[in-house]
Amino acid sequence: MRIAMIGTGYVGLVSGACFSDFGHDVVCVDKDAAKIAALEDGKMPIYEPGLDALVAHNVAGGRLSFTTDLASAVAGADAVFIAVGTPSRRGDGHADLSYVHVAAEEIAGALTGPAVIVTKSTVPVGTGDEVERIMREAAPQAEFWVASNPEFLREGAAIDDFKRPDRVVVGIEDDRARDVLERIYRPLNLNRAPLLFTRRRTAELIKYAANAFLATKITFINEIADLCEIVGADVQDVSRGIGLDNRIGPKFLHAGPGYGGSCFPKDTLALLKTAEDEQVPLRIVESVVKVNDSRKRAMGRKVIRAMGGDVRGKTVAILGLTFKPNTDDMREAPSIAIIQALQDEGATIRACDPEGVEQAKRELQDVEFLADPYAAADGADALVIVTEWDQFRALDLSRMAKIMNAPILVDLRNVYSPDEARNAGLDYVGVGMPQHPAEAA
Ligand SMILES: NC(=O)c1ccc[n+]([C@@H]2O[C@H](COP(=O)([O-])OP(=O)(O)OC[C@H]3O[C@@H](n4cnc5c(N)ncnc54)[C@H](O)[C@@H]3O)[C@@H](O)[C@H]2O)c1
Repeated sequence: MRIAMIGTGYVGLVSGACFSDFGHDVVCVDKDAAKIAALEDGKMPIYEPGLDALVAHNVAGGRLSFTTDLASAVAGADAVFIAVGTPSRRGDGHADLSYVHVAAEEIAGALTGPAVIVTKSTVPVGTGDEVERIMREAAPQAEFWVASNPEFLREGAAIDDFKRPDRVVVGIEDDRARDVLERIYRPLNLNRAPLLFTRRRTAELIKYAANAFLATKITFINEIADLCEIVGADVQDVSRGIGLDNRIGPKFLHAGPGYGGSCFPKDTLALLKTAEDEQVPLRIVESVVKVNDSRKRAMGRKVIRAMGGDVRGKTVAILGLTFKPNTDDMREAPSIAIIQALQDEGATIRACDPEGVEQAKRELQDVEFLADPYAAADGADALVIVTEWDQFRALDLSRMAKIMNAPILVDLRNVYSPDEARNAGLDYVGVGMPQHPAEAA
């Protein structure tokens, strides 16, 4: 199959590279000339494990190429995927569909033969109808079918998720689109990934419902963690105790500093806006958004409490800045609100992150970035684990205790056990653990 991928961001690049690895001919398009030039040079614009090798392999095989010229990529394609951004619209939180609409218009002007247009971007219910309308208006004679194929990959594990998905959801209104998408995803039959065909609007809603549900699960356990701290229970045991129940499942039950990233915050907000427009309140999702928003800064206050309530003139070493490990993505990362809360109270911040520093420099001010966790902790008054990168999972805690000015570890991901930290000479505060005297103060 010949595939054009419009938008070469996280989703477009990973999807394009994986489709080419399936054996399809893929051209990835982006308006960002610097991004395309870098890709042509073999440089990845994002950090994603395994992506550089996958791209290099398929470029060398002649199945994957990059261009800024949308028309040449679309001409002759069997399927054109739209994978442009759908950020929160400034001011009202609706999904900003302007990139999708522009892409639809540009595709319509470039079609040279029959093609299936597939929206992979996360878009509100009814966007497929609008894409179809825009294209029909721009190219009344063109032969095309519009489908929805939301993407569920996780940054940091994107390639594996794409190649071994739990399911592929395809929303269609006609058999032609079904046939083309079946052929595109046929290689996944080997992995027995269910291909779930639905109507187009249903597929669009599945994506939002999935993200809202996962955000709810995280937020639920975070609130339970708060209760654990007060009643003297351990949230990790609670998670295990409920997660072993197959009806609940163990995933997304790790208490932490709140969800961030490029998807959950904007998608929950966009879902609420759709619900508001349709006058169907989604009160659970409303609460989730509010609770998560306030949690990030509250984690800054948690650090301040652990440090005795006054951080003015003190130095805090932050380990992990990205919203989760194995990505350089800083969008809506809890670290931003935590650092801001600490700076507002007069703390000096040092930070260490394996891949996120370049992105972090755009989001954070007055932060000293260090490549080594021990250099960050040297002379610090507290060490705070915000993102659980592997590099921070096997720290020499005794060494940390010796080089710090005040040996306090605030572990917002519960990477270490209170006992191992305390045995190493560190004062330990985790999330959802029976409260430590320092914190209760
Ligand atoms: N990042 C994720 O983990 C993830 C997961 C699932 C779904 N999604 C969804 O996928 C979509 C894309 O997300 P992303 O993170 O890849 O975004 P991104 O911002 O990383 O990439 C979007 C790219 O599209 C390009 N672009 C915009 N308009 C264009 C046009 N008309 N022609 C060519 N290129 C154009 C931009 O220059 C940019 O490089 C969003 O709707 C997002 O919600 C993202």
